[in-house]
Amino acid sequence: MAATAAEHVLARTAANRGRVAICLTGGSSPRQLYQLLATESYRNRLPWHRVHWFVGDERFVSADDPLHNMAMARAAFLDRCAPAANIHPIPTADIDPADPDRAAALYQQELQSFYGADTLDSARPLFDLVLMGVGPDGHAASLFPGYPALDETAAWVVGVPRANVAPFVPRVTLTLPVLASCHEMLFEVAGVDKRAILARVFAGEDLPANRAHSAGQTIWLVDRAAMPENVGGR
Ligand code: 6PG
Repeated sequence: MAATAAEHVLARTAANRGRVAICLTGGSSPRQLYQLLATESYRNRLPWHRVHWFVGDERFVSADDPLHNMAMARAAFLDRCAPAANIHPIPTADIDPADPDRAAALYQQELQSFYGADTLDSARPLFDLVLMGVGPDGHAASLFPGYPALDETAAWVVGVPRANVAPFVPRVTLTLPVLASCHEMLFEVAGVDKRAILARVFAGEDLPANRAHSAGQTIWLVDRAAMPENVGGR
C-alpha cells in the first residue's frame, strides 16, 4: 500500500511542472509511505526543491511528541529530504492550547498566501494531492462526527477544542472545502481494526470520511485486513 501511495505522490508531482503542494495526514497509516519516500529510489525521483508539504490537521502536543503529525512526517522523511522552507507545519508550538483558533488563523493566512488568494477557485486547486486516513469513529483530518467544524464553509482552517478520540487534546484542522480543493485525495486505510468503521463508511453512512472528497479524484487504498466483507472493487 505504501508503494502504491508513493507512486501516486510521484505521479501527482510529475503532472505539475511548477510548484507542487501536498497535504499530509497524521496517524499511523501514512508512516510507511513517509519512510519509503526517504529511501534512495523514491528520494531520487522527487523534485524536492519544488514540492511544498502541508498537513491536514495537527494536535496540541509538543513538537517532539511522536503524536505530533508534522513531527512524525519530519522524522520519517521531510527533515532528510525537503528544504526547510518547503515544510509548512501548523504553528501550535507558541500558541495557548486553549486558543486553537489562533493557530488555525495563522495557518489559514499561510495557506492563503501560498495560494495567492483568500477564496478558492475551482479551476485552480490549492493542493495537487491530499493524503487522508480514517479514524475509528469515521473522522478524517480532525473533522469528527457531529462537530461544527464539519459544516464550516467560510474558514479554511478551524480550531477543535477537544478531540473525539485519543489523544484528547485540542486540534487544528483544515475544513472540508479546503481539503476538497485538490486534484486528488488519497485515503490509506490498513489493518483489521479499521474493518468495522470501513463497513459503515462504504455503506454510505453520514460520516466525515464520506463527506471528505476531492473536487477532482478521490481514491481509497484499503488493505485486505481492513476490507469489510461483501465489499469489492474499491
Ligand atoms: C489525526 C489524523 C487522522 C488520522 C486518522 C487515522 O491527526 O488524527 O490526521 O485523521 O488520519 O485518525 O489514524 P491512524 O492512521 O492512526 O489509524
